[in-house]
Amino acid sequence: MRIRTMYFCYCLAVLGVLLGVPAIAAPDPWLDHNGRLPSRSDYAGPLFKLSHDYPSGLPAPHMPWRTAIGNLPISTANAAAYTQALKDSVARDMVALLLDDGDWDPGRRGWYNDPWLGAQREAIHGMLVGIERVDDAMFAKSGLTKPFTTYVLTWYNRTAAQTLGAIWRDPQAPQLGGGATQYAEGSITVKLAFTTAGPAEWPAMRGALSWPMMMTTNATTGQFDRPTLGKGHLMQVDIVVKDTQSAPQTGWVFTTLVYDRNTRPGSRGVWDQMVPLGAQWGNDPRVDSAAKPGAPLFESWINPNAPLYATETLGWGGRLSGPNDHGANDISVVTGGQRSLLRRAGNSSCLSCHGTSQWNPANPAKGMSAFLMPLAPPDADGAPNAGAPYLNSPAPGSSEWLRWFQNRPGNVPMDAGSVAGDYDLALTFRVLPAWQEARSGKKHALQKLDAGGVPLQRE
Ligand code: HEC
Repeated sequence: MRIRTMYFCYCLAVLGVLLGVPAIAAPDPWLDHNGRLPSRSDYAGPLFKLSHDYPSGLPAPHMPWRTAIGNLPISTANAAAYTQALKDSVARDMVALLLDDGDWDPGRRGWYNDPWLGAQREAIHGMLVGIERVDDAMFAKSGLTKPFTTYVLTWYNRTAAQTLGAIWRDPQAPQLGGGATQYAEGSITVKLAFTTAGPAEWPAMRGALSWPMMMTTNATTGQFDRPTLGKGHLMQVDIVVKDTQSAPQTGWVFTTLVYDRNTRPGSRGVWDQMVPLGAQWGNDPRVDSAAKPGAPLFESWINPNAPLYATETLGWGGRLSGPNDHGANDISVVTGGQRSLLRRAGNSSCLSCHGTSQWNPANPAKGMSAFLMPLAPPDADGAPNAGAPYLNSPAPGSSEWLRWFQNRPGNVPMDAGSVAGDYDLALTFRVLPAWQEARSGKKHALQKLDAGGVPLQRE
């Protein structure tokens, strides 16, 4: 019986070869986008092309953000100057990108993308769905009237792209050991986040830059299936940099800019209206924001002049998190045998979430050993989904909670047995799961979640 089946398969394979049909269509790691195109009458502009000619062997780059703070460690006193210098260092290229006038040639300018995500990228700008559905209640004070979806796009500078090249030299067999996942000093990653909520649904977006995109998911219109040409509005630009001199404990400074309609555009147009929300270089592990919610922080700086909407979703105790980042969530906590539900509680931040970047090569079907945000172990009160649909959280400030708020160098994983991803979540939350999925032919658990860790409505 078995021999007959094998023979049958063998004949089919031979037939396939004769007909020129490959037995299995291997997914292409360098695919540009998902191929769902707008009609030429609706959109006649250029389409997204993946930039992946990763360089290697580069000397350390010039780092003006270090000199902007006199080569001292970053602190709440000098973080504004640091953030401004970092913003200025990428301004020329980002203005060219945002203008979208055909002058953006990423390979020439030295900006690169991740492999393996083509099937998830829309065709015009290569954007991925970031968070599928952000509830309008998150932005009550700034008058959001409909939920929204965010679309995101990430660019790595030349220095950072060397790491992508080291990991993906063989795109079918990523190299994770031997320090391959570590970024060199001066590595910069920029992530743009657009929202489907326009000025009609959210006054905060009045005057924001908008880009056409082929949207498959749009919580504002309620459409989650058919690809449709729609507009995304630029809300947030993250700029993060590997800088162990300025941030010796974690090796990273995370900064974020947000659109501010009350700032006037200057010679650089809307780029001048992207104002700092803040910077973060550590998790303030010693500040117990549960006991003292307003306690001052020493490793996050928040711009006191940031627009209101962007401060509605700060993380735990005011640690930095942007409107695109899910730093505040509905959580369910057991204390003294009593379960309580906390709505829109700050339970994350840039570095606490990105600190979960790790990959367990022995269990690629799981991949990341810890969740993005504090999650109680399943046996804490018996049921794995206790507290659902709220997040089953350890008590804020407890030792379990604080596992997420430690300062570790990027080569130390959160959990033993995993390879640390040097704070890069695109790698461990998106790219490695997509590679593993292509390899195994099975949907990866992490591909069923949006970037906030929430299960997707449509897969
Ligand atoms: C609750 C989790 C969470 C928080 C908080 C968060 N991020 Fe992320 N971030 C992600 C995930 C997941 C990805 C990868 C998927 C994607 O790009 O959407 C990501 C991707 C990124 C990237 C692309 C490169 C990389 O490292 O993966 C940058 C840059 C970035 N985030 C910056 C920031 C900044 C700056 C903040 C704070 C203002 C922040 N993030 C807060 C989850 C988070």
